[in-house]
Amino acid sequence: MTQDADFSALAPPFKLGVGTSAYQIEGAVNQDGRGKSIWDVFTHTPGKTKDGTNGDVACDHYNRLNEDLDLLQWMHVDGYRFSISWPRIVPEGVGSVNEKGLDFYERLVDGLLARDITPYPTLYHWDLPAALESEGGWLNRATCHAFEQYAVAVARRLGDRVPMWFTHNEPWCQAFLGYEHGIFAPGVQNFADALQCAHHLLLSHGMAATALRSVVNTPIGPALNFTPSYPGSDKEEDIEAAQRQNGYFQGWFVDPIAGRGYPEHMVRHYGKLMPSFRSADLDVIAAPIDVLGVNYYERSLVVNKEGDEGGVLQLEHLQRPLAHTADREMYPPGLSDTLRDLHFNYGFNNLMITENGAAFEETPDETGYVDDAGRIDFIKAHLNEVIKVKAEGVPVNGYFAWTLMDNYEWNEGYSLCYGLCHMNKQTFKRTPKTSAHFLRRLRAK
Ligand code: FCB
Repeated sequence: MTQDADFSALAPPFKLGVGTSAYQIEGAVNQDGRGKSIWDVFTHTPGKTKDGTNGDVACDHYNRLNEDLDLLQWMHVDGYRFSISWPRIVPEGVGSVNEKGLDFYERLVDGLLARDITPYPTLYHWDLPAALESEGGWLNRATCHAFEQYAVAVARRLGDRVPMWFTHNEPWCQAFLGYEHGIFAPGVQNFADALQCAHHLLLSHGMAATALRSVVNTPIGPALNFTPSYPGSDKEEDIEAAQRQNGYFQGWFVDPIAGRGYPEHMVRHYGKLMPSFRSADLDVIAAPIDVLGVNYYERSLVVNKEGDEGGVLQLEHLQRPLAHTADREMYPPGLSDTLRDLHFNYGFNNLMITENGAAFEETPDETGYVDDAGRIDFIKAHLNEVIKVKAEGVPVNGYFAWTLMDNYEWNEGYSLCYGLCHMNKQTFKRTPKTSAHFLRRLRAK
């Protein structure tokens, strides 16, 4: 079969594209009235990020918008997923709206539409206004109301041109990397706080989804991350261990959004760590959604460990045996397993792969060019899983490779390269890698 024949199942209206997030690419942290976010505070705290780097400048996308729009057009993407920086829009988290912040995203959206690229904004990709953090951040229920107001302010300006809205990106990361492991902002290590944060993220998703409906009539949903867990043996105790890990990682978010409430077995497991909340919150969280964003990178493999009787999970994570990228195992079947589960078990009817990608150790040649054959193999392998499940009747309607260009990879600083384009950190020159050429060829123009 030719390459084109291979991928014809992903012809339009299927959306092919790439994604980014505000803090990872924009830079310009002090420009045009942007307030500080918890990531500005975190990355400026010594010892929190690899090599002590921060996102103050990142890819300088804020000042290079037109160049990046042209790059996206060159790549022939159908869609572009980006996040909106809350502290650019509402610098203090609540209160006055910064019109200049909205102007930037309006230029972005209009620039995309002028190039026939569909905009897919995400309202929260972890950059909470720092002013809200000093009031308790995601541990404070008031933050949910602030998020709702911010979402409405954005939708009022852009709602007539945006065809789909994502509320939160990967709430698991915000809650558990931010509050259990403490390796993401705000850098707390307290499991009960992580569960409290997760509850407020879910609640704020439901509140924002409902509020957005009064402003727009386009699809709305969250983008969740899925790292499906598999048992390391056939033993009953290891199968149950994998079920617990799945409950902790994705069930905790997807079950309440699907109207099932929190997974019972996990509520029992967490016991006294569970936050107290109003039972009506579960109805708010279960607000109907029209799309589910699926971020998929890898699986996990676990076995039971003595001592995992309750509270914080104590499972043993096994070394995963297959091919590895710079930081993870490559396991494409985990994507199709996840997609089948979301459709056939949960009943979700509009799935978009909002993130999928890999980092590799790469050295550009003297022109900045990177031959990233490994990334092409990675993308092809995952696209093949999408094709497979579509043929089985799973409604997957888009795939966004992570990410447009090498950028600021959170606590890992600039050490991990996930880009389809290389970004020179001194000159900011963007150079499409072989994978960008591959994606471009999937959409002949
Ligand atoms: C995802 C994040 C994204 C990026 C990729 C590599 O979990 O959503 O911002 O960090 O991982």
